[in-house]
Amino acid sequence: MTRDAGSEAAEVLTLTGIAADPLCLTCRLRARDGAELVLRPLVHADAAGLAGFLAAMSAASRRFSTFDGYGLATAREVCDAIARYDKLRLVLEDVASGRIVGLLEHSLDLTPTDVARYRDAGVRLTATTDCRFGITPADDHQDRGLGTLVLPLVEEVARRLGRTRIILWGGVRADNPRAVRYYEKNGFRTVGAFEEADGSLSLDMMLTLDPVPDRP
Ligand SMILES: CC(C)(COP(=O)(O)OP(=O)(O)OC[C@H]1O[C@@H](n2cnc3c(N)ncnc32)[C@H](O)[C@@H]1OP(=O)(O)O)[C@@H](O)C(=O)NCCC(=O)NCCS
Repeated sequence: MTRDAGSEAAEVLTLTGIAADPLCLTCRLRARDGAELVLRPLVHADAAGLAGFLAAMSAASRRFSTFDGYGLATAREVCDAIARYDKLRLVLEDVASGRIVGLLEHSLDLTPTDVARYRDAGVRLTATTDCRFGITPADDHQDRGLGTLVLPLVEEVARRLGRTRIILWGGVRADNPRAVRYYEKNGFRTVGAFEEADGSLSLDMMLTLDPVPDRP
């Protein structure tokens, strides 16, 4: 990710700062199959592309990654929310097609239910140290190592937002072995479990970030 030389240790990014300068969190990646991708903050001009991404989500993906809607109205709302609340959304764009093929969401807010659940599991969450995170690769980009490829960048974003731990936004369903495997192999540990409205079980998982090494 691009950043000014000399400012990397101290400067904590803000959502308004990122919206004013999306390049500060923009980087190029190469997928396992050679495809070139760009990871960058969502911008207002993405509404149509984001709507296409949401509309293409399969029923299975919608069950595991839930959004308020899956069309243009929701995409517009999400774009209108840029830098207005607690959320930072990054998109993965396929360079060849210009298509959005993944959505990564950080939330700098914690809900009282999250705080209470984690407290019951012996973990004290605070808004200054913790953020929530969710990832949604497009259906045709799942199981291709993309989630694992971007995870170090997700961690870097959280660090640059001043956070030291990441929790799963809404948890992960226990009957989603791929997602559980994905999070475990990338260092998340299970903190507790809770029941969804439909009676199914979900897990709370947390990743503690390695401290940034001191610069010589
Ligand atoms: C879960 C998800 C985010 C992971 O991202 P991804 O890019 O597909 O993940 P990766 O390809 O980096 O890693 C997936 C891992 O799960 C493994 N896996 C795939 N299917 C599996 C299954 N049924 N059971 C157990 N592990 C499985 C893969 O082999 C891989 O592990 P490996 O690298 O050790 O072989 C993505 O698949 C996804 O969004 N799926 C649909 C929606 C969803 O489940 N959302 C989760 C919300 S919490």
